[in-house]
Amino acid sequence: MSLRIPFILAALAMLATATADAAPNYEGRKKCGSCHRSQLDSWEKTAHAKALDSLAPKVKVEAKKKAKLDPNKDYRQDADCVGCHSTGFNHEGGFDPKEPSKYLTGVGCESCHGPGSEYRLQHRKAGQAFEKKKQATARQQLAEAGQEFQFEERCASCHLNYEGSPWKGAKKPYTPFTPKLDKKYGFEFGKAVRNDKAMHEHFKLEGVFTGPPLPSFRDEFQSKAKPGVKGKEE
Ligand code: HEC
Ligand code: HEC
Ligand code: HEC
Ligand code: HEC
Repeated sequence: MSLRIPFILAALAMLATATADAAPNYEGRKKCGSCHRSQLDSWEKTAHAKALDSLAPKVKVEAKKKAKLDPNKDYRQDADCVGCHSTGFNHEGGFDPKEPSKYLTGVGCESCHGPGSEYRLQHRKAGQAFEKKKQATARQQLAEAGQEFQFEERCASCHLNYEGSPWKGAKKPYTPFTPKLDKKYGFEFGKAVRNDKAMHEHFKLEGVFTGPPLPSFRDEFQSKAKPGVKGKEE
């Protein structure tokens, strides 16, 4: 019997490689929003939703002057800026300034939850299994399909990406808005992630998914969550 174990391990390793090859790509918020209507409506009111507009000329003039940027310049196609003000720039299916999709402008769903081409199919399947048979699906498979459950690194890649940052992953292009320029640009994950006006408001989940991984704040958020409006995929 024990002779079979290396074979099983080899087969598992191959399976893992095959899964990693089917890398998920960005698709934009249209799909997410058609099922998660409440989160979409709430997110649309956030600064994240309007982040690309901040790169237009003659807006946020004082902030730009302070950061030694040109307030009359249009930065909406500038590769040094759009990466943090849109969704999935420089990744498969992500924002392309030459053909800007209106579903990829701003810091969208997939900027935080991860590129959705694979896991959104699992949401649909799991939703149906739950509706028909009251059967819950393991959350682990979502993580394997690229869904984010930790968030902190993703936030850091935009908010803590500057020279001399405490975040080890920092590399160019940097954000011009750093705590050195003004204390208000400092970033504390634990505080920021609880800012519903910057993320979106939270709505009750029915328990379609079960088990790990979960962020430490899931129960806290769900205990205060409102009843949501569900949509159907178009
Ligand atoms: C076909 C409909 C559908 C689409 C499209 C869809 N979802 Fe979902 N999603 C669901 C359902 C159903 C659940 C389970 C909700 C529940 O438990 O009440 C879910 C759950 C979630 C959860 C919570 C998962 C957990 O840990 O329990 C998140 C976060 C989420 N979706 C984000 C997204 C994002 C981002 C997209 C777009 C990339 C997306 N969804 C696309 C139907 C969908
Ligand atoms: C793709 C880059 C990106 C990611 C990822 C990102 N942000 Fe942001 N965030 C921004 C930008 C850009 C703004 C400023 C938008 C503007 O005013 O143009 C912002 C603004 C904010 C604000 C301030 C809103 C206000 O009203 O002043 C908070 C708080 C925030 N983000 C928290 C987070 C947290 C927490 C995460 C991770 C869960 C996160 N962000 C992920 C780019 C990002
Ligand atoms: C590494 C990510 C990153 C890059 C690159 C980046 N930004 Fe941002 N930008 C942010 C984040 C994060 C914020 C939100 C800061 C906050 O409020 O704490 C922001 C905020 C802003 C704001 C609003 C500031 C305010 O006080 O309201 C403007 C305007 C802006 N960015 C313009 C630009 C321009 C122009 C460029 C290119 C020259 C650029 N950004 C490049 C991440 C980035
Ligand atoms: C700036 C980051 C950020 C963006 C952008 C964002 N989310 Fe979230 N979202 C979160 C965080 C943080 C949670 C809480 C995670 C948890 O409880 O597992 C969350 C939770 C959720 C949940 C679980 C139920 C709930 O309401 O808490 C769903 C569904 C969801 N988001 C969908 C979306 C959709 C759809 C979009 C785009 C319209 C979106 N999110 C955009 C950060 C973000």
